Amino acid sequence: MSVSEEFWRRAQAVIAGGVNSPARSFRPMGGDAPLFIKTARGGRFEDVDGRSYVEFLAAFGPNIVGHGHPLVLERVASQLRDGALFGAPCPGEVEFAERLSAAIPALEQVRLVSSGTEAVMSAIRLARAATGRDLIVKFDGNYHGHADAVLVNTGSGAATAGGGHDSEGVPSGVRKDVRSLPFNDLGALAELFAAEGARIAAVLIEPISGNMGVVGPEPGYLAGVSEIAHRHGALVIDDEVIVGFRLRYGIIGPELGLSPDLVCLGKAIGGGLALGAYGGSRALMSLVAPLGPMFQAGTLAGNPLSVAAGLATLDILAEPGVYPWLAAMGGRLAQGVTDAADAAGAATSLTRFGSMFTLFFRRTAPRNYMEAQDYDGEAFRRFFWAMLEEGVYLAPSPYEAWFVTLGHTEEDVAQGIGAAARAFLRLRQPD
Ligand SMILES: Cc1ncc(COP(=O)(O)O)c(C=O)c1O
Repeated sequence: MSVSEEFWRRAQAVIAGGVNSPARSFRPMGGDAPLFIKTARGGRFEDVDGRSYVEFLAAFGPNIVGHGHPLVLERVASQLRDGALFGAPCPGEVEFAERLSAAIPALEQVRLVSSGTEAVMSAIRLARAATGRDLIVKFDGNYHGHADAVLVNTGSGAATAGGGHDSEGVPSGVRKDVRSLPFNDLGALAELFAAEGARIAAVLIEPISGNMGVVGPEPGYLAGVSEIAHRHGALVIDDEVIVGFRLRYGIIGPELGLSPDLVCLGKAIGGGLALGAYGGSRALMSLVAPLGPMFQAGTLAGNPLSVAAGLATLDILAEPGVYPWLAAMGGRLAQGVTDAADAAGAATSLTRFGSMFTLFFRRTAPRNYMEAQDYDGEAFRRFFWAMLEEGVYLAPSPYEAWFVTLGHTEEDVAQGIGAAARAFLRLRQPD
């Protein structure tokens, strides 16, 4: 029995399903034990059995500067010595909020929270408080965390490892106040607003979806979404938990035509520690307690340790040339993987934005969740296992992205491409 298998045996005894988040499970890949990771450096993992992997998982997005970046290590270690948690305000949270606000014009004020789930959950509550309306519109295959209101037709782990696209335990009353529509379909949104516009508090959207695989908005779509929502007095909530600070220093929605009223951030801004944020105009944020009537709080919110990691991460990401480098490496990896697939005659397509992309096991890139679900699952599973055997760790789901980080080297990318070439050739042989 390998050391990972031994940990898996113990994990299953005491952790529900053996994992603390379903997306980490190898069960959807037909596997039993996942790998237990002992250390991570740069763009690599070492598992408890001593095997080394190039990893393009990036912890499902947060890792952008590379594991163990010296600046993050130094600042976090120093803060840890000075105190991890005060339950009283600290300078770092002010500095961090200032940095977010300076980078994102729509964020006059923010609230720091501890996860993307909390950021979205709070933004929804605020939108409802601000409009006095209940209905939330979201899009099929988007994932916004695991709060009740957003577990309707979700992508990501809820689609692969969650036993369906909805979750049991979400009250029917909550479901009643959520509408989920196809992404990239303005007609469907216009129709819904024509019927129920006066009851809609907000449209919640990932401007580039990262949870049905990477799926971009069609030209004019995000501007159309904003126009329809605003015409009916609804707010636009821009969920950039994955793409915020991943594709540029700040958010990407406005560049693509979205006019957000509220913005949600998480993942990359925390440098691997638990940190999220939501915010908007001063007028909207003044509705949040203690100034206003909308309550939101958190014992760990804006804690000194997380903001120390976050500030170090933003310092690194603000360096000139960072995003072009990430995009170039993402482009090189994506091109290499595409060439490998083509050379082997594999039926794949690929959608990339900067340092993130999804390799779809279908001939054409999907425009929405319905299309994304139509793929060759067996080929994906075999590819996943072949890559792992080749020493490349990918997300165990067809609906996730590959991420390149500043910790990856040219050799890591070359290893990824070489592994893909061999994995695709193996797909041509009978299993
Ligand atoms: C777009 C988006 N929003 C929100 C979340 C929830 O974030 P967290 O897992 O940190 O709660 C995720 C997580 O994958 C996400 O991708």
